[in-house]
Amino acid sequence: MRVMVLGATGGSGGRIVNRLLAEGVTPRAAVRGAGPHRALRAAGADPVRFDLLSSPAELAAALDGTEVVLNAAAAAGVQEAPAVDRDGVIAAIDAAQKVGVRRWIQVSMAGVDDPDRLPGLLRSVAAAKRVADDHLTGSALAWTILRPPWLTDEAATGRIAFRVTEQSRLSRTDLAAVAVSAIDRPATHGRILEICNGSTPVERALAGLAAATGPTESAR
Ligand SMILES: NC(=O)c1ccc[n+]([C@@H]2O[C@H](COP(=O)([O-])OP(=O)(O)OC[C@H]3O[C@@H](n4cnc5c(N)ncnc54)[C@H](OP(=O)(O)O)[C@@H]3O)[C@@H](O)[C@H]2O)c1
Repeated sequence: MRVMVLGATGGSGGRIVNRLLAEGVTPRAAVRGAGPHRALRAAGADPVRFDLLSSPAELAAALDGTEVVLNAAAAAGVQEAPAVDRDGVIAAIDAAQKVGVRRWIQVSMAGVDDPDRLPGLLRSVAAAKRVADDHLTGSALAWTILRPPWLTDEAATGRIAFRVTEQSRLSRTDLAAVAVSAIDRPATHGRILEICNGSTPVERALAGLAAATGPTESAR
């Protein structure tokens, strides 16, 4: 399985890379600069130069040969979110379809459907992510959208819930477990999952989706 992780140098993306490696998958790890290449290669990943601000042709060339994209990239600052999290992701989704990517797992954020519940600074980020999410849901890709609340670097609990509140948090390591486990779970295709740390083991929570109905799993 040829998997590419966008944002592989980030907190969540790095954990997704590690999770894939632990499961015997050699991921293509998308990085903007040359700096992280050596460490990623030493860890067993396959680093690829990739910038969401690149041209459509460059995005297509970078994604060519990929079957599954896990997108954990995010703009470094709020002001860059429209260019990176919205326009860059939309361009990458379009490029992915042109080169035959079949599956796209998108890390979005909880609250994009109701930005008023977010702190003011995050509302423009949420708006950018919402447009990109909508573009993905209208694409021909087999998509899954994960919408976590505030992410932490705490140790994994291995347990999640699909009911996000203002107090909810999610460990990036648990997010990585969900993202990787979702790859081969058809029940997650076409689903928007608001996830946070909870009490149900990740595998059981995802397996339970088979019986669920509706595109958004936000209140279980
Ligand atoms: N942080 C939170 O509490 C939170 C809450 C809810 C949802 N989320 C979402 O969860 C995801 C992961 O968040 P995180 O905090 O773990 O990520 P992060 O540590 O901020 O990492 C962001 C990654 O995106 C990459 N990136 C930035 N600009 C890029 C560009 N133009 N092209 C390609 N890659 C680019 C960064 O690369 P460089 O290393 O080169 O900068 C980095 O690898 C993001 O989608 C974020 O919006 C985050």
